[in-house]
Amino acid sequence: MNKILNVAIIGVGSRGGETYGRYFQERSDLFKINSLCEIKPNRLEKYQKEFNVEKSQCFTDENEFFKEKRADVLIISTLDADHVREALVAINLGYHILLEKPISPKEEELDMLLKAANDKKVKILVCHVLRYTVAMQKIKYLLTSKAIGKLISIDHLENVAYWHQAHSFVRGNWRNSEETAPMILAKCCHDLDLLQWFANSKCESISSYGALNYFNKENCSKNATSLCIDCPLMHSCAYSAYNIYIEKWKKDGSPSNSWPYNVLSDETLTENVLLDAIKKEPYGRCVFKCDNDVVDSQSVNILFKNGVTANLKMTGFNKYPGRFIHFFGTLGEIILDEQRGTITLRPFNKDDVVYNIKELTQDARGHGGGDIEMMKYLYKMIIEDFKDTTATSLEDSIESHKMAFAAEKSRLNSGKLIKF
Ligand SMILES: NC(=O)c1ccc[n+]([C@@H]2O[C@H](COP(=O)([O-])OP(=O)(O)OC[C@H]3O[C@@H](n4cnc5c(N)ncnc54)[C@H](O)[C@@H]3O)[C@@H](O)[C@H]2O)c1
Repeated sequence: MNKILNVAIIGVGSRGGETYGRYFQERSDLFKINSLCEIKPNRLEKYQKEFNVEKSQCFTDENEFFKEKRADVLIISTLDADHVREALVAINLGYHILLEKPISPKEEELDMLLKAANDKKVKILVCHVLRYTVAMQKIKYLLTSKAIGKLISIDHLENVAYWHQAHSFVRGNWRNSEETAPMILAKCCHDLDLLQWFANSKCESISSYGALNYFNKENCSKNATSLCIDCPLMHSCAYSAYNIYIEKWKKDGSPSNSWPYNVLSDETLTENVLLDAIKKEPYGRCVFKCDNDVVDSQSVNILFKNGVTANLKMTGFNKYPGRFIHFFGTLGEIILDEQRGTITLRPFNKDDVVYNIKELTQDARGHGGGDIEMMKYLYKMIIEDFKDTTATSLEDSIESHKMAFAAEKSRLNSGKLIKF
């Protein structure tokens, strides 16, 4: 019989509840949810019942929750600015931790966390879920086996998609730099982690340009109202809450519980539930009249210490999400196209090989299967003391976070070169 890993979750929202909580429930042969902490009482009650957790182990106040250690591992899936405060208390209690990315919007908290984790010898896995996907594993294998010779350069495009930009970075949790991490960290710490992993080197220098180009009052039509539901442009504006949360939801098959729609309500999703949600803030707001200040487009130029160069472009101005990554080597190219679901290997002196990503994986739910593979890794890491280079170590994660902070510093200083 398998050993059971006892887990506690703080922040039982989209990641903590829907992604990790549901997975633990599905794999009750490996995991047991012992305790929950969630500031929204209705949400806490919903998951207490669904995950069958004792009421006495469910808390709305983190101080009560942290009075004692309640499980082997703590899932920290609150919002960005809370992570390190909670992690430091958890480390003192002796929890191992699954820590949502980004670690923190404050650069000075990164080394503080590393020191505390090392001093107390607890294990921390930061949720860089993409490393665990079969697609990224395949690319890493091709690079390591020199299928394209020596890697020279990488072009990395992160298509955020117009509706995701509007949902998360204009109307939602990651819109305002006072409350959250800069977008290059919030959205692209995965990409920077992948780039340093693929390049197999630390960063030497970085520079960046980017801006909030479009989602501001200068681009607002004079007829637009504060809530889309009252607006004469409700049906014609691509970014209207009605078009994104009602029309697109219908095109997506009217799911009863699916991201991003489930962020609007804890109830089972119906047209009426979504209509009620967009009659108010925050998700019913006009995208040109929000309190957002994070960028909608940013380019980053990177030189790694081993001479590999990379260009990372993150932009919300695309119809479909997905990464497009082009690797240039001395003997060939690799192209990842997430929209088409393919990896193409182009060796110079042989025929091209096209891998269909769906055929490489059995379960592509949640970040191309990365969420699930990371949970399996977490189990092995804690129960079997397993370690390999699939996972991002806390040190590596901090390194890629520092790349994001450096990129942001450069962007705010007109593209100034930042050396490491
Ligand atoms: N690994 C990934 O790919 C990935 C993807 C999306 C989001 N994230 C990260 O996951 C984290 C959570 O994002 P989300 O989309 O689940 O957000 P969310 O808003 O759906 O969930 C956060 C939950 O934390 C609760 N909360 C806030 N403060 C709390 C506190 N002090 N104590 C207890 N509960 C508290 C909120 O009420 C909410 O239910 C963020 O840091 C985000 O950046 C990571």
